[in-house]
Amino acid sequence: MHFLTLDELTVEDIYEVLHQAEALKNHKPLPRPDLYAVNLFFENSTRTKCSFEMAQRKLGMNVLSFEAGTASISKGESLYDTVKTLEAIGVDVAVIRHSEERYFDALKGKVSISLINGGDGMGHHPSQCMLDLLTIYQEFGRFKGLNITIAGDIRHSRVARSNTYALKRLGANVNFSGPTAWRDPDMEEISFIEMDQAVKESDVVMLLRVQHERHAFGENFTKQEYHNQYGLTLEREKKMKKNSIIMHPAPVNRGVEIADELVECERSRIFKQMKNGVFTRMAMLQYVLAKREETKHELIN
Ligand code: CP
Repeated sequence: MHFLTLDELTVEDIYEVLHQAEALKNHKPLPRPDLYAVNLFFENSTRTKCSFEMAQRKLGMNVLSFEAGTASISKGESLYDTVKTLEAIGVDVAVIRHSEERYFDALKGKVSISLINGGDGMGHHPSQCMLDLLTIYQEFGRFKGLNITIAGDIRHSRVARSNTYALKRLGANVNFSGPTAWRDPDMEEISFIEMDQAVKESDVVMLLRVQHERHAFGENFTKQEYHNQYGLTLEREKKMKKNSIIMHPAPVNRGVEIADELVECERSRIFKQMKNGVFTRMAMLQYVLAKREETKHELIN
């Protein structure tokens, strides 16, 4: 059993993980020292890597250290052989972040270790999506009928892709906002609105990081021009709906997609998202490991 994309879960499964994440906030689970986890990050990460490790430790699991830079991948070993090796030495679950979209297709059905996708290129980011869903659910107690604007570099964002489809399945109305050049031709069915309209109509304004590694500022606009035209400025925040919230997966470019002062303002849930990330990832690990144990039990009987 793996946790690779949200499409693989039913709506009932999504709610099960969200309710379990909420329960874990107030309930310490029995430690599982019999279980071994490893986090294979071939792309940089602070939040996802550290909060998965925190989640594994809070579940009382053993966590193996793995650094991509010093692993035998640098000698040419494939991802498949790396995962098979970890499986052979007794690892139960591997969290993987990789720059290649759908890297997991080469592993599915061929490894018995459970895999959790920590982000695949521009493809999917299921744990970010689940923690975003938890943050919205805690705030509003529902998804149906909520207006959610996702703003920024839609085309290159695995967060936009995962969140859009999950939120729509759960009944929310999703719009995009941002530069025309960053629209995603695969998601043409989602309406684009100006940021001035988005702040007036949205219950959630979800900002995305401008990915400097993909776009050189100065080509189309300066940081200040981006902020003024597409960003959440101090003036725009004043026009946001009553009880609406600001979200961002982080890392944040303060003063670009969001005014520096708004990152920690009353409406911002940015650091709450990170806190929720630990409980969400604990629930995801428990979900995967429970299914894994069910499968083993079925094989024995
Ligand atoms: N939001 C997110 O995925 O952050 P990291 O890249 O730091 O893991």
